Amino acid sequence: MKILLLGSGGREHAMAWKISQSPKCEKLYIAPGNAGTMACGENVPMKADDFEAIKSFVLTHGVSMVVVGPEDPLVKGIYDFFRDDAELKDVAVIGPSKEGACLEGSKDFAKAFMQRHAIPTAAYRTFTGATLAEGKAFLRTLKAPYVLKADGLCAGKGVLILPTLEQAEKELEEMLSGMFGDASSRVVIEEFMDGIECSVFVLTDGSGYKILPEAKDYKRIGEGDTGLNTGGMGSVSPVPFATKEWMQKVEDRIIRPTVEGLRQEGICYKGFIFFGLINVDGEPKVIEYNCRMGDPETETVMLRIKSDLVELFEAVAEGRLAECPLEFDQRSAVCVMLVSGGYPGHYEKGFEITGIENITNPDSVVFHAGTAVKEGRTVTAGGRVIAVSSYGESQAEALRKSMTEAQKIQFEGRYFRRDIGQDLLSGL
Ligand code: AMP
Ligand code: GLY
Repeated sequence: MKILLLGSGGREHAMAWKISQSPKCEKLYIAPGNAGTMACGENVPMKADDFEAIKSFVLTHGVSMVVVGPEDPLVKGIYDFFRDDAELKDVAVIGPSKEGACLEGSKDFAKAFMQRHAIPTAAYRTFTGATLAEGKAFLRTLKAPYVLKADGLCAGKGVLILPTLEQAEKELEEMLSGMFGDASSRVVIEEFMDGIECSVFVLTDGSGYKILPEAKDYKRIGEGDTGLNTGGMGSVSPVPFATKEWMQKVEDRIIRPTVEGLRQEGICYKGFIFFGLINVDGEPKVIEYNCRMGDPETETVMLRIKSDLVELFEAVAEGRLAECPLEFDQRSAVCVMLVSGGYPGHYEKGFEITGIENITNPDSVVFHAGTAVKEGRTVTAGGRVIAVSSYGESQAEALRKSMTEAQKIQFEGRYFRRDIGQDLLSGL
């Protein structure tokens, strides 16, 4: 089978690594890919949301499966574009329909969906410019801190958590008057939930589903979870507090009602559902849905899937996922992200990356995130540059291996956190 994978980050390199191991994958194309994905297949200089270019590539190269990494093409309706095109309708697209992608593309849609299906989440209401006064009144009924969410996609920046009522009222006003453009013309205000977060991933064909290894990501730039938010500084899988009992609650109260709810409402969904969960006094609640895999969670989740991912994707396309076995690697995996100096603020790109060839530990894998090839050399091309993921018999061992290997990779300004997963180990 010829497969086209859309996207260019660490998540896509990890997926490309896993897909290319499948005997079913005859040829893998990655569009646009990065310097690392070139080792798993052929990069194609094509944007992940240029549907017309993707169409002509798929037709001329005999691609029979398209795997969508990021949310953008999904929210823009790539699934529907293929389904509704006479020449493309038999090509399998791994990803939800445009309506299904609203679980991520519209916070208001996601909250209303959860309410309809009694899925545990924070209490909320949605407001527009016309209902600003009601929004302020609703804020006054809540306790600090206050959570404001732009309804639409804002490249991960649309959620504000504010310590005082005054700040919350001011930000609400600014959001509704266009702080994030159209994306914040509607704002969800919700109750603050206090707890530890966990990412749970499901692959579904719209009726059956498989729960993939869970993971936890580390968003803050500084050790001890301090400083600014980033796209993610590392991840671990498994997550110690996601015990069998806890995951059973997640499946019974959250996963099954979500998949069943989509089916009942006639929303076509053949792809990944990312449940951003929070553990509040032992009870799982949904913070958000995403319609794709997480980054950098994928960089540990892929290490822990033993089964053939392409076989699972085929089963998704053919609607027989329930009968497909899914085997996990029981070892721990820890990912450490190497980032550019200055990130998530201003940073320079184009620095040469050296030492990747010195990563020789068979338990470690290097995934490129923001890299490019310039005049035959691999250079930095983003804030998050390289993810080093390792297996370990314990999480501590996996972290040690990732850190040892990460030290071998050099570029100007390189920074990484040395405490990924450490918070979960204390007290165990
Ligand atoms: P989201 O984009 O919805 O994932 O929100 C970004 C981050 O804000 C989450 O990962 C949480 O850390 C935090 N967050 C969002 N909603 C809430 C909430 N209701 N209570 C506490 N933290 C939240
Ligand atoms: N790691 C969180 C995300 O991918 O949204």
